[in-house]
Amino acid sequence: MSQVFIFDTTLRDGEQSPGISLNARQKLEIAEQLARLGVDVIEAGFPITSKGDFEAVKTIAEKVKRPSIAALARAVDVDIDRAWEAIKNAEKPRIHTFIATSDIHIERKLKKTRDEVLKMTEAAVKRAKKYTFDVEFSPEDATRSEFEFLCKVIRVAIENGATVINIPDTVGYALPDEFGKLIKDLKEKMPELNEVILSVHCHNDLGLAVANSLEAIINGANQVECTINGLGERAGNASLEEIVMILDTRYRSLGKKTNIKTEEIMRTSKLVSSLTGYHVQFNKAIVGANAFAHSSGIHTDGMLKDRTTYEIIDPVKIGLTSSKLVLGKTSGRHGFRRRLEDLGYVLSEKEFERAFKRFKDLADKKAQITDDDIEAIVADEIYTLEEIFKLVHFEVVCGSDIKPKATVKIEKNGEIFKEQATGDGPVDAAFNAVNKIVGLKIKLLSFSISAVTGGTEALGESNLQLEVEGLTVSGHGVSTDIIEASLRAYLSALNKVIDKIKK
Ligand code: KIV
Ligand code: ZN
Repeated sequence: MSQVFIFDTTLRDGEQSPGISLNARQKLEIAEQLARLGVDVIEAGFPITSKGDFEAVKTIAEKVKRPSIAALARAVDVDIDRAWEAIKNAEKPRIHTFIATSDIHIERKLKKTRDEVLKMTEAAVKRAKKYTFDVEFSPEDATRSEFEFLCKVIRVAIENGATVINIPDTVGYALPDEFGKLIKDLKEKMPELNEVILSVHCHNDLGLAVANSLEAIINGANQVECTINGLGERAGNASLEEIVMILDTRYRSLGKKTNIKTEEIMRTSKLVSSLTGYHVQFNKAIVGANAFAHSSGIHTDGMLKDRTTYEIIDPVKIGLTSSKLVLGKTSGRHGFRRRLEDLGYVLSEKEFERAFKRFKDLADKKAQITDDDIEAIVADEIYTLEEIFKLVHFEVVCGSDIKPKATVKIEKNGEIFKEQATGDGPVDAAFNAVNKIVGLKIKLLSFSISAVTGGTEALGESNLQLEVEGLTVSGHGVSTDIIEASLRAYLSALNKVIDKIKK
């Protein structure tokens, strides 16, 4: 079989990364982009975990067409019923149910016996099957499970109607040759696996998630579970863009195809990065800022003579074109609306007006506005959470011989609060002023600032992570002023805390 199905779990396993908390509007936007990217399945969430997640999965199931929409459920009735309730209106609904099969999980986590796990598998798959034809079953921690017992559980799942069997390397422990052999042994031992889709789900604790997924594909797996930018629990999941581009670039050696429109990869990566606040490392394969940058003299010389001397992928193939200069100060509503439509955004009138105002403010400061700028504005302005803390005004005084001092005004529930503070730099001073206003215990865990496009007048983009009252949250903000971008990121993270506390 030459087809490999791409199951994207950015909105479920990816969202389990510490600090990520997407609202329903943000999740819908990512799901729509994943559909444009051409993924076969979107795992939209884990509906039993919260009302917010349930609503987001439901909205995606109702609105996003073409891919199957999967919802995760433990192997218990309440989870399965709730998952179905969320996805029942999808064009192609899939229930994904799981239970752990390693002794360490069965005994210490579930406090059950192997027999009970077998019974729960049977009951869960049967229950899910009453709702929908398409049922995926995962034996959690498969790579640390005893092989014979693993086969028994999988057999029970298939006998009761599972259409997809997913083998997770839950803790990212397997080595590529071991994982490949596991897939091969399962297929040899169980011919019934040829009648279902055989999937893999690899975590990246040892940096082997992509290598393990590839080895599984070589040995007969025909679905891969992965995430954009490799997001996911702990060290993350296998990265979608890496798997897809390996299969594409090495097609002649591997002979495997996917349905992914590779030209959408870069845009999807950027959208996920700005909405989650998880910055992509510069040297990340495929989507990192340096993935196509050549700096040494020998390399640039070779590139100028023939691109293929040092480039194995044409950057255009992943949608990395030099950002188009599209709009400017004189562009009006009509031009802006047209560009948004061309980029695939569907905004309500209210959202359009907010984006247009932000665009006009930017056009006053920056002569030429690119698609990258527009994408950054929309991500920052439209898909942010309802703002409890709103930045009204700030001033910073700093220089080589003075202690940086900031004044910040914030609106909260219609009331304006103003504070002043000093710090060891202008950003620190501004954050200290905010801290005085909000009165929460805040620790800055990470902070970065980068430019959305080139040039000194580029939009600055700030990503950060905070620990607030025991919660880890990420924030993202853009502005032509880097202090403002940092403050926006800081407040967006604080707004997430308030949102989480409310839930
Ligand atoms: O890592 C894992 O085992 C999972 C399962 C729910 C598939 O995420
Ligand atoms: Zn996982």
